[in-house]
Amino acid sequence: MARTAISPLSRDGAKSSAPVQPKQTLDETRAAWREAFRRVRGETEARASHLSAEDQIVQSMADASPTKWHRAHVTWFFETFLLKPHDPAYRIFDERFPFLFNSYYVAAGPRHARPQRGLITRPNHDDVTAYRAHVDKAVERLIETVPEAEAARVFEILEIGLNHEQQHQELLITDILHAFAQNPTDPAYDEDWQPPQPTQGPRGFVDVPAGIHRIGHDGIGYCFDNETPRHDELIPDMRIARHLVTNAEWLQFMAADGYATPSLWLSDGWACAQTEGWQAPGYWRQADGAWFSMTLAGLKPVDPAAPVLHISYYEADAYARFAGKSLPSEAEWEVAAGAAVMTDAFGIAWQWTRSAYLPYPGYRAAEGALGEYNGKFMVNQMVLRGSSLATPAGHERASYRNFFYPPSRWQFTGLRLAEFK
Ligand SMILES: [Fe+2]
Repeated sequence: MARTAISPLSRDGAKSSAPVQPKQTLDETRAAWREAFRRVRGETEARASHLSAEDQIVQSMADASPTKWHRAHVTWFFETFLLKPHDPAYRIFDERFPFLFNSYYVAAGPRHARPQRGLITRPNHDDVTAYRAHVDKAVERLIETVPEAEAARVFEILEIGLNHEQQHQELLITDILHAFAQNPTDPAYDEDWQPPQPTQGPRGFVDVPAGIHRIGHDGIGYCFDNETPRHDELIPDMRIARHLVTNAEWLQFMAADGYATPSLWLSDGWACAQTEGWQAPGYWRQADGAWFSMTLAGLKPVDPAAPVLHISYYEADAYARFAGKSLPSEAEWEVAAGAAVMTDAFGIAWQWTRSAYLPYPGYRAAEGALGEYNGKFMVNQMVLRGSSLATPAGHERASYRNFFYPPSRWQFTGLRLAEFK
C-alpha cells in the first residue's frame, strides 16, 4: 500500500475542526465545513496508509479494534447520525454494515461483539475504502445542499462526527501499537517516527491559584457534552509539577522495588499488578541489562529523559505515594492549565488524575442515540487530562476529559505530581 507523504502524527499547522466564524455567509460556512471534513477524513487515511491490509485486520485484545474497523466505524457514524436522518436521497451502502460497525449505541440497533471485530476479514480493506468514498460523497453533497433551515443541525452533527473521527484516529495508533507489541518481529508503524521532545527548563513545583474557580468548557469552540456544565470548584493551597514524570524517575521507583511493595498500592491495583505480572511500564522489555520499549518506530532503548508512558492509573497512584506526593484532581489540573504553569500539558502523554469520571453538577446527556456518546460511561473510570503524541492536531483543550479504566495502559498515559501545602 502506498505510503503518504503526510507525516501522520504531524502537529504542525494545527487547526480546530470548528471552522465557522461569526458573520460568515451560508456559502462560506458550507465551504469551511467541506474543507474541515476533507481534512479530518484525510488524516484517518494518512494514518492508515502506513499499514498493510493484513495489519488492518488484526485485533490484539478486546479493548483494541482493528484499523479497518476504525475506518469503517467512523464512516458508519456519519451514515447513521447524519445522512440517514437528514438526507432523504441517501442510499445506505450495505445493509449488513450497521451491525458490523456500530460500536456501543444500543438505540442505533444490534451490533457485532467487540472482542470479535478481528474476525471480520470480509468486508475487506477495499470494501471499506469504497464505503468511505460512498459516504464522503454523500456528506459533501449534503454540506452543499442542505436547506438553510436545517443547516445548523446538520453542521452540529457533522462537527460531532469529525471530533468522533479524531478520537478514533488516536485509537487507531494506540491499537496498532498494541498489536505490534505482540509481534515477535517488533514491527515499526513508521520507521521514521520520532518521539516528541519534552520541554527543557526549570523543574520542581509551582503554585496553583487557590480559591473558587470556574471549570468546564467556556463555550468558545467545540466541546463534548461531558465538559459541561461549567461550574465552580474549590482549589486548595497546592502546587503542581511543572513537568511530567520521566523514565529516569520511574526507574528509581523500580529500583526501590516499587512494583514489589504492597504498601504503595491500592488493593485493586496490587491485585491487578500481581495478576498481570507488572514489573515495568507497558511495552517495556529488558535485554542485556538495558530497558527497551516498543514504540511507533519499533523497539527502542528507553530514554531516561523522556516522560514515562503506558502506565495504568494503579501504577500512577503507586508512584505518587512512593514520591510522597499526590495526583492532581482534574479541576486542579484544569486551573493549572489556565494559569499556564505546566510544561508539556499537551502533546506527549495523557495524565492520570485522582478524579473519578463523574457527571459535572447538572449534567444531562442528550436525548436519543447520540446521548450514549459519553454519559453512560460515567462510572468506574478515572479522568485523564491533556493530550498525547497520538492526539490529532486541533483536538485538544484545557477542559477535555478523557477517561479509561484504572488497569488500562495501552494508551499513551503518564502522570504529573501534585503536592499540598
Ligand atoms: Fe466511536
